[in-house]
Amino acid sequence: MAGSSTGTVFKVTTWGESHGPATGAVIDGCPAGLPLSPADFRPYMARRRPDGSLMSTNRREADEVEILSGVFEGMTTGTPVSLLIRNTDQHSADYGNLADIYRPGHADFGYQAKYGHRDYRGGGRSSGRETAARVAAGAVAAKILGMTGITFQTAVTSVGGFPPEEAPGIIKQYREAGDSAGSEVICTVHGAPAGIGDPVFRKLDALLAEAVFSIGAVRAFEIGSGRDVISLRGSENNDAFCMKNGKVVTETNHCGGILGGISTGGDILIRASFKPTPSISLKQRTVTRDGEETEICIRGRHDPVIGPRAAVVVEAMSALVLLDSMLLNMTSQLSSFISFYQKK
Ligand SMILES: Cc1cc2nc3c(=O)[nH]c(=O)nc-3n(C[C@H](O)[C@H](O)[C@H](O)COP(=O)(O)O)c2cc1C
Repeated sequence: MAGSSTGTVFKVTTWGESHGPATGAVIDGCPAGLPLSPADFRPYMARRRPDGSLMSTNRREADEVEILSGVFEGMTTGTPVSLLIRNTDQHSADYGNLADIYRPGHADFGYQAKYGHRDYRGGGRSSGRETAARVAAGAVAAKILGMTGITFQTAVTSVGGFPPEEAPGIIKQYREAGDSAGSEVICTVHGAPAGIGDPVFRKLDALLAEAVFSIGAVRAFEIGSGRDVISLRGSENNDAFCMKNGKVVTETNHCGGILGGISTGGDILIRASFKPTPSISLKQRTVTRDGEETEICIRGRHDPVIGPRAAVVVEAMSALVLLDSMLLNMTSQLSSFISFYQKK
């Protein structure tokens, strides 16, 4: 399967299936000299882990990240950092009856059409479980970005079209009906400097869109005012420039901190819409591998809404894009090259 790697300088490859022995990530291009230990991953991994509430699956995973390589005496060495997260709570028997049936809303049919052979247990590689590896890699990127003053603020802003405070009631209702809900996540990046991103094919907003759209169940990506621009006038949508503490800033932020594919220095505003979880226990019509029409009721443990678990995944993917773009940006002006290599 190609397409499991992302990034140019800070290059991340994820691997592993939902019900295999483990999942993980390899980061090639992580600069040497970063203090890194399993403790760095715990707060990030905890935000993706099911929390035992009505809002998430009953699958229980420790999600402890093991560092297999690239760190010596507590510090990155510049060689590939290999991260491993063991799967310990798979219930593969729940999926035995799905070997020959295509689940509606899932990748089953597409994988079968493409490969002719697939790991159907828990959705294999198309499972939300794959995102554990992204979060581990994103934690490393976020740690480096934090050292430059960049921070993230990420929240679920809608569940089933309702504000988050109404979510528990909505989810209880949907669960009782054997159904699931859609959701929205907003991620704000504070402190990103102006001048990050490239002007044409590697626009910062285009890279963020690709990264966020690569997360399962994402159905829309917006930057800044996003789709609201449809009904704004130019005079309302343009962000006036002004000076603040000797710096060029914008008075408003409809552009979401990016113009012409390059950061303005304002907050980067990212919005992702997630579809309702495809696995529902309500009866659905489908087809078997032999082309026979049938019905399916999906059992197993599932998130009734994806946003609460995926919020940190949006943040992790944004951190990976931003760090990679910042590393690439170090070659954009000759003066940076000269000052780096100048003889002291
Ligand atoms: C963090 C996360 C958790 C997920 N949990 C589930 C789940 O419990 N049950 C499910 O059916 N889909 C879940 N999904 C969504 C499916 O992986 C996804 O919808 C499916 O693979 C089809 O891909 P697509 O929606 O991107 O087309 C989850 C996705 C993410 C990002």
